[in-house]
Amino acid sequence: MLYLGEKDILEAAGFDELMDTIEDAYFVEHSGEYEMPPRVHVNNGDNTVLYMPCFLNSIFGTKILTLFPGNASKHKPVIQGLVLLNDVETGRPLAIIDGAKLTAVRTGAVGGVGIRHTASISARTLGLVGAGVQGFHQVLFACRARPVARVNLFDSITEKASALAAKLGQALPGVSVEAVNDVNTLLEGSEIVITATPAAKPVLPDDKALLKGKHYLAIGSYKPDMRELPASLYALVDKVFIDTGHGLGESGDLITPLQQNWISREQIVTFAEHLHGAQTAIRPGETTLFKSVGMALFDIVLAELIYRKALQKNIGQKIRV
Ligand SMILES: NC(=O)c1ccc[n+]([C@@H]2O[C@H](COP(=O)([O-])OP(=O)(O)OC[C@H]3O[C@@H](n4cnc5c(N)ncnc54)[C@H](O)[C@@H]3O)[C@@H](O)[C@H]2O)c1
Repeated sequence: MLYLGEKDILEAAGFDELMDTIEDAYFVEHSGEYEMPPRVHVNNGDNTVLYMPCFLNSIFGTKILTLFPGNASKHKPVIQGLVLLNDVETGRPLAIIDGAKLTAVRTGAVGGVGIRHTASISARTLGLVGAGVQGFHQVLFACRARPVARVNLFDSITEKASALAAKLGQALPGVSVEAVNDVNTLLEGSEIVITATPAAKPVLPDDKALLKGKHYLAIGSYKPDMRELPASLYALVDKVFIDTGHGLGESGDLITPLQQNWISREQIVTFAEHLHGAQTAIRPGETTLFKSVGMALFDIVLAELIYRKALQKNIGQKIRV
């Protein structure tokens, strides 16, 4: 059996390849050739464990992810976990993969694919609200999806935004990365806006004039009582693109707008449907919104890619079982 840690994951596969594989995952989803139950949320107070299995034709796997919000104040990662990959014919365990890194990379790749298809081709400026682990990876992938020249960062903890600005500045030579003092400044200077926070209340102002004409990518809310997006954003978009229909039962950024009639069910379109339909070009000045909650299918297609590339490149630690 193989163990693949953080560094192995990044060494095994490149960013464009990871995004292309997520695009393929939407085609697998559309074909129906997979087996994936709704993920199991087990809650204990504020802490959550997610169990996420998925069978593909070629492999199967399970991600177990812990989300412990209190870890933030202990300077420990909020999200931790492992992915177990198994042989599809015999069930034999093949690999264990770092679940925190795989999650950050797959969520970044899902966001990047969202940007590829729903953000203006000419977008050069990016804003990130929530300078955490996901935020870092979202920006890296967004900068592969569009030739971003400027990144604006905002976090409710100022030091986190400054620290991420320094880290991204190193990771993205040639891109100007700066922490800004407020979300309004971020919106004024950003054509693509990513929210990656565990917020319970909207992190963007409820102000149509400021929100209009941008591409939004919201990844934070995965529970009914979590929301990042304000009501007026929904009045600006024709459609809300979602990475998986499971989000309709999970995220406050979909449940509340439907309950309040800010948006109709017909306006919510899964990305698998979108990629298979007649896609229209983004109109100049159009506001678009992509909401992601993630699903095991994404984790397992990427885990398979990383596992097979790692075998080819002789990466990882062999474990005798
Ligand atoms: N869509 C997906 O597939 C997916 C995958 C992984 C994680 N997530 C979710 O994304 C969110 C972020 O995860 P993470 O691992 O980056 O967490 P993290 O703790 O590393 O980062 C979150 C950041 O958001 C900041 N923040 C919190 N409230 C804020 C607010 N109101 N305004 C501005 N900044 C605020 C925090 O200070 C922190 O820096 C979580 O809710 C997580 O569950 C979604």
